[in-house]
Amino acid sequence: MKKKILALGITMCMAAFLAACGGSSAETSAAADTKASEANTEAAAQSGAEGEESESSDAGETAAADLQTVAAGKLTVATSPDFAPYEFYAIGEDGTPALAGFDMALAKYIADDLGLELEVVTVDFDGVLSELQTKSVDLGMAGLSPDPKREGIMDFSDLYYIGGQSLVTVKANAGTYNSFEAVNKPEVSVGAQIGSIQMDLATANSPDADIVPLPKVTDIIAELLSGKMDVAYIETDVAKSYQKNYPELEIIMEVPYDQEGSAIGVCKGNEGLLAAVNASIAKALEDGSMEKFIAEANELASGEKYEGLLDESGQVQQ
Ligand code: ARG
Repeated sequence: MKKKILALGITMCMAAFLAACGGSSAETSAAADTKASEANTEAAAQSGAEGEESESSDAGETAAADLQTVAAGKLTVATSPDFAPYEFYAIGEDGTPALAGFDMALAKYIADDLGLELEVVTVDFDGVLSELQTKSVDLGMAGLSPDPKREGIMDFSDLYYIGGQSLVTVKANAGTYNSFEAVNKPEVSVGAQIGSIQMDLATANSPDADIVPLPKVTDIIAELLSGKMDVAYIETDVAKSYQKNYPELEIIMEVPYDQEGSAIGVCKGNEGLLAAVNASIAKALEDGSMEKFIAEANELASGEKYEGLLDESGQVQQ
């Protein structure tokens, strides 16, 4: 699996940064094992025989020193930057691609709020899930839906964004693929991202179709645009974002989904971090930061200067 660790720059602009350094999750995973026991040390010392009875302290008060993370002093976040306006590569002022998107802005906000240094690990979306499962990262921030099927491998934060699901094609095919019936045929290729809830939507709504799982949403967009793929299940705001750069894309219709909204995936069992992340999310929603991050990300993903379909080497995927 392709993986990179990127150190996020100090400024929220993020346009000028791109520091890629080698590294593997193996070197940080050992720390994760000690986490659960350390988290309870204080409470155990105080409560003695009372054991489980004493609950942990107030979320908002959590200081960085009390937080257990896979790398001390750092907040290690896995993401899958194929998902504008949530996370994507944009061309910075220096001409190099840089990580952008409201998930990345929120990640930086949370890290700052918790007094931790942000470290971002980029992987395909199924990699975000496995990084959390192996406790190689602290958080997964990738427009993650709080799918109950994932509860065994991660905890979910409160929701920080509400989106929706759509069936997408290109304008030229909009007349043909205009209903679930029309796309539920063996000759129709239906794309969805590997590991995503869109895969579930595809199998639930288009069981007879030729379902094509792809690792990146940008691959799916490229296949739709080149005519290799007929339709795809994509998060609505992501489809709308790519549509601004590629007006040939057409949203056929909204697709019902019952776990709507995005949460942060938190390394399972790290109660202290979960509480601290929820407190930071509440703050970002309340102080207007989240709104600002969303507006900035949407603008960055849809300008002529910036391109939502870039990969990390600055190539436009087509
Ligand atoms: N919300 C969907 C899910 O949780 C898709 C998320 C895909 N994220 C990404 N960065 N590609 O399954």
